[in-house]
Amino acid sequence: MNTLPDYKNIMVHPTYSKSLRKGTMTEKRTIYLDHAATTPVKPAVLEAMRPYYTEYFGNPSSIYSIARESRKAIEIARAQVAKAIGAVPDEIYFTSGGSESDNWAIKGVVFANRKKGNHIITSAIEHHAVLHTCRYLEKEGFSVTYLPVDSSGLVDPEDLEKAITDKTILISIMYANNEIGTIEPVAELGAIAKKHKIYFHTDAVQAIGNIPIDVKAQNIDLLSLSAHKFYGPKGCGALYIRKGVKIDNLIHGGGQESRRRAGTENIAGIVGLGTAIELATADIRGHNARIAVLRDRLLKGILDTIPYSRLNGHPERRLPGNLNVSFEFIEGESMLLWLDDEGICGSTGSACTSGSLEPSHVMLAIGLPHEIAHGSLRLTLGDANTEQDVDLVLDVLPKVVAKLRDMSPLYHKSGKEGKTRGAAK
Ligand SMILES: Cc1ncc(COP(=O)(O)O)c(C=O)c1O
Repeated sequence: MNTLPDYKNIMVHPTYSKSLRKGTMTEKRTIYLDHAATTPVKPAVLEAMRPYYTEYFGNPSSIYSIARESRKAIEIARAQVAKAIGAVPDEIYFTSGGSESDNWAIKGVVFANRKKGNHIITSAIEHHAVLHTCRYLEKEGFSVTYLPVDSSGLVDPEDLEKAITDKTILISIMYANNEIGTIEPVAELGAIAKKHKIYFHTDAVQAIGNIPIDVKAQNIDLLSLSAHKFYGPKGCGALYIRKGVKIDNLIHGGGQESRRRAGTENIAGIVGLGTAIELATADIRGHNARIAVLRDRLLKGILDTIPYSRLNGHPERRLPGNLNVSFEFIEGESMLLWLDDEGICGSTGSACTSGSLEPSHVMLAIGLPHEIAHGSLRLTLGDANTEQDVDLVLDVLPKVVAKLRDMSPLYHKSGKEGKTRGAAK
């Protein structure tokens, strides 16, 4: 008999040590607040995947019955993904995740349409899967316009309109930003692209499962998604390609995915993706409302108790679970280490995977000065989070910030030490 880990209990790793939490020797329960980075696989998803590792492991390209079962499972998942975004199954292609989907959408479209023009429009706050692809294409002779965003992270549709030239062949603007959670006016941007007969791609990796999406109503020609952001497995994603879009292959080889994406299918991953997207979109509004209430409670608590703190991103047009706040005189990295010591998992906009000390391109694009961008903290809530989690963070975080400010010569020199409660405006 297989025993599945209980997904809520995965969050509980009791350790006993000295803590900033109320009382000294308390049980430290891990509080996971980094759902924008990845999510745990739901038990129902894992359960659905399991037989495709063991019983129906056949290569879908083979002709015997266990292979037919895997083929069937892939087509069910394709239909599940299509239904979740308002597409038809033939428009869904499975990939290895969001990065591959973004690379395929962008490189595939521009190489296939090179005769029509060489201009791409994207935004300054895209994920690196889009930005670095565009940088690569610049070296290949394409020209790229990186649209600016306003201080809340929004792209202005008028800027898009102005940037279009007769050489523009692709517009790629993300659905929602992974750091600050801002939701872009995708339908409006898509309508502009359609009016000019330019292909419109959106990286919806952070949006799927958090916001209802309808590719037809929103004029989306290509859309990237990734299972691990909505309680599915890592290493599995999909690209929606509207029928009629002219696109080259990215991965060449066998004839899988209607000869468009080579490679033996990750059947269990695909089944997990299908199950996860169906679960994530089933009660999307109810689910979001619950998470947004927790997020708002956390935000209010932070702004009320920690002076010189501010919200980054749009106050309303943001992902329900996303909270991004900056604290003056604080290094985001040090804050994360202290929080980790308290069992709280978050991330920081100033974290730079490349090891450079530059704050993130998103923080700079919304106009944050370097020193404030460095003190940003992203907390992203998910299914298993509770009011108790929020209250615990609200107990610990002000103490962490106070400790770090106490160590900061800049803070002591600033003359702002006196203030103890209430957010700086
Ligand atoms: C907006 C966005 N696009 C693309 C990706 C890359 O997705 P994956 O990790 O599946 O390659 C991510 C992952 O964080 C993301 O947040």
